[in-house]
Amino acid sequence: MLGFGGGFGDEVALVEEGFELRYEKFAAAKWGDSGGIKYVIVKMSWKTFYKTTTKLLYTLSATLENVSLACYNGSPIMGWFSAPFHIPHNPKGNSMSKKSSRRQFLKTSSVLATGAALAGGLTISQSAHAQGSDQIKVALIGCGGRGSGAIRDRAQVGDNYKVVAVADAFEGDLRDGVWRGGARGGAHDIRRDSANTEDNLHGKVDLPDDRVFAGLDSYKKAIDCLNPGDQVVIATPPGFRPYHYRYAIEKGLHVFMEKPIFIDAPGFRHVMETNKMADDKNLKVVVGFQRRYQPEYYNWIKQIHAGSIGDVQYTRVFWNGGGIWCRSRTAGESELNFQVRNWYHFVWLCGDNIAEQHCHNLDIGNWIHGKGDRMAHPVEANAQGGRTHKAGSDALMRQAPPFSDRAAWDEWYWANRQQLNRHGQAWDHFFVEFTYADGSRMFSQCRHIQGTENNISEHAYGTNGSGTPGRLLNRNNEQIWNNRERAPKGSMQWEHDKLVEAIREGKPMNDGYHAAMSCMIAVLGREAAFCGKVVKWDELVEKGRSYFPNGEITDFNQTAPVQPDADGFYESTVSVPGVYNPFA
Ligand SMILES: NC(=O)c1ccc[n+]([C@@H]2O[C@H](COP(=O)([O-])OP(=O)(O)OC[C@H]3O[C@@H](n4cnc5c(N)ncnc54)[C@H](O)[C@@H]3O)[C@@H](O)[C@H]2O)c1
Repeated sequence: MLGFGGGFGDEVALVEEGFELRYEKFAAAKWGDSGGIKYVIVKMSWKTFYKTTTKLLYTLSATLENVSLACYNGSPIMGWFSAPFHIPHNPKGNSMSKKSSRRQFLKTSSVLATGAALAGGLTISQSAHAQGSDQIKVALIGCGGRGSGAIRDRAQVGDNYKVVAVADAFEGDLRDGVWRGGARGGAHDIRRDSANTEDNLHGKVDLPDDRVFAGLDSYKKAIDCLNPGDQVVIATPPGFRPYHYRYAIEKGLHVFMEKPIFIDAPGFRHVMETNKMADDKNLKVVVGFQRRYQPEYYNWIKQIHAGSIGDVQYTRVFWNGGGIWCRSRTAGESELNFQVRNWYHFVWLCGDNIAEQHCHNLDIGNWIHGKGDRMAHPVEANAQGGRTHKAGSDALMRQAPPFSDRAAWDEWYWANRQQLNRHGQAWDHFFVEFTYADGSRMFSQCRHIQGTENNISEHAYGTNGSGTPGRLLNRNNEQIWNNRERAPKGSMQWEHDKLVEAIREGKPMNDGYHAAMSCMIAVLGREAAFCGKVVKWDELVEKGRSYFPNGEITDFNQTAPVQPDADGFYESTVSVPGVYNPFA
């Protein structure tokens, strides 16, 4: 069983709720290499089943031969709710059009439904703005999983726009027409889809090679291809976000950027300044906290703020799930290169999993504790956590060849990386009690440990009742309100509709403020857990420590901010409660 561990040669892949197709095996699938997968088991709740399988089926049916898919909801009672079925081989491999993949998905998903029922200096081409037209030029910064999705979400808005530049830290590799990531891979995919007359990107792309940029300063080059009033889509690791956001606003661009939008207190202060700059320039900003664009959430919170369950006393928010991807070292790779590729495992890049992932749920809890648009934030946090799973492979560690023999170490690491899942400095679980000024509390849990229970949810409790998104109960647990309305094209796409509407109709729109609050709450919880003491919001905002190097990282020749120990791991950089100082 592959799960989130297992070897690369295993035949069975298990996909769990919250996983979002990030595992390397599926990246490999995207490249047309099944990595030996013959069966895929999807284990998740009915609610998220369609969402995840859409991506899964699209990826697999576009590239793989002879893969069978089965679904299991993890319950010993319900058990399997779809018999295994077969995804037919696509003889054209990667050249299969997106449209036909979608058709394939629709066909396949109806089979599943049945099963379920049964159970700077610019060249001329770089200066791409069409002066005087209503066309918005768009640049994509960060061509990874979310960037590729976000640029397609942008395409679905359907207005007059053009994708004119892309940037990624890595050049990527394009061999035999096969996508292999980085700027060139991202550009390749965008051009491929735009060539399909039935794709949303068709006719919306003007992307010559000299507007495809690689490197840690590539974001500036792509942004420099735009003119004031154009738009940028930013989906890089969050440590870089304050700098990317600032440059875009300085250049007069509207911004869609992914969460989190910083990873430390200096990042918060920097982003808050940039938010103000954006307002002063009348620029529109949307952040990928997609729950903010789900009627199920915003109608629910409106009801709570209207007093339907009385005064809010506490909220409980969760992102507990399985493990996450880790990308192996490649021979001779520099330390900075390795860390940027493995950004999820380094606090200076990802903010730890409480920031990277759990910020979604913290955003909802915080929204509930506020009133209407007023931004609440907790006054203090008390927390604990650790890296039980990541640190639990010491016996295996002792078998590693010396790090000084890098070639042997790399080979060993590649062979054992899934069992190790230990690299980097991030923790794998946090529990935080946040206290608000009115005495109400938010209890938060996040976890990334394979084999543990999945729970991604938010709950509110008031003096007269309680609720979960879309539903409210009175104190007798009787339903008093229910609304399951969904965003027309899904919340991740709806964000882009709303941004473009604000740009074109001059409506106010700046998510940067509430997004900054929610990300800073994650930083507060993390720092409280790291030090094992109560940490106050005001003090942390004012003098919390810096993780991302001051002065930025724009060149792979720079030194990585954290260095591995002699054994090639990062134990000495892992925060130890009782020792760690959040203000150092
Ligand atoms: N809203 C959501 O539901 C959602 C879902 C997934 C990811 N995200 C967010 O999107 C962001 C990216 O996540 P992902 O899953 O796409 O990761 P990813 O690793 O797949 O992609 C990140 C890309 O950014 C590139 N990159 C790294 N540093 C860069 C730099 N300095 N300049 C330019 N490019 C750089 C990487 O090479 C990579 O291609 C994260 O902040 C993540 O939290 C949000």
